[in-house]
Amino acid sequence: MSGVAYIDKNARQASENITVRRMDFDFSDQLREFWCDDNPVLTAFLTGLSVSFPAGERFFIDSVRHYETQLKQSKNTNPALLADIRAFIGQEAHHTVEHQALNGFMERKGYPIRKMESFIAERIKMMQGTSAPEVNLARTVALEHFTAIMAAGFLSHPELMDKMDPEMAALWGWHAIEEIEHRSVAFDVYQEVVGDDALRRRTMRTITYFFILMNTIRTLRLLKVSGNSFNLKAWGKAANMLWGYPGVLRKIVPQYLSYYRKGFHPSQHDVSAIVAAAKKKYLKEA
Ligand SMILES: [Fe+2]
Ligand SMILES: [Fe+2]
Repeated sequence: MSGVAYIDKNARQASENITVRRMDFDFSDQLREFWCDDNPVLTAFLTGLSVSFPAGERFFIDSVRHYETQLKQSKNTNPALLADIRAFIGQEAHHTVEHQALNGFMERKGYPIRKMESFIAERIKMMQGTSAPEVNLARTVALEHFTAIMAAGFLSHPELMDKMDPEMAALWGWHAIEEIEHRSVAFDVYQEVVGDDALRRRTMRTITYFFILMNTIRTLRLLKVSGNSFNLKAWGKAANMLWGYPGVLRKIVPQYLSYYRKGFHPSQHDVSAIVAAAKKKYLKEA
């Protein structure tokens, strides 16, 4: 258990508790291929996200870890931030292990998951190696904002979560809770060691473009493999779920935009009730 509340010199809000939980999900081959709402489009979209996690989360860990030693050596660093970094790394490492289990399940169903994972890992490595550490950290902060607001969006929509196979819902529920728990860590490190607000916002624009583009490409590729590229009924239902009614992604647009505000901090979006309910539901934690 980490995440002792701390207030830094810019009076940012106190950090939230970050708990590293080791999980062990079992995605046996008995699960249905279209494990989200029997819908190939929703399943492809979520699988595409999952495929990006192993290399993506490795990148997040590297970006934050790069500054860990510097923060440790500085007398001004709040010890709570260092503890939060450790917990952040622990959580992300466990997410990767469990998403690899999901990814392995989809590979066995005939999707070229490992190939897609390697492609992403190579691209990220190239981008990482040719960029300054502060830019890599700004990218991490932007992507962590995406994961945190999507996590809150997922958790507040039983219309989506309850349509998943229960083991899948448990994985996404757990991951979403922890993404919210550690949502401020990369941001706080960035404020401490870089603090360039213009770079933070500029980077979000580029990340948004690539995040949407790459997720669309991955969804289309997976759909092609399953032979559902032109399954209009599935497209209609998925579009409605994500952008119509209930509109899981449509509803997080205001939180996305808040990132561009001056004085933004991830903890300003109050999701305590959503997280408390999700902890009860998915983790049996009071
Ligand atoms: Fe994660
Ligand atoms: Fe994360």
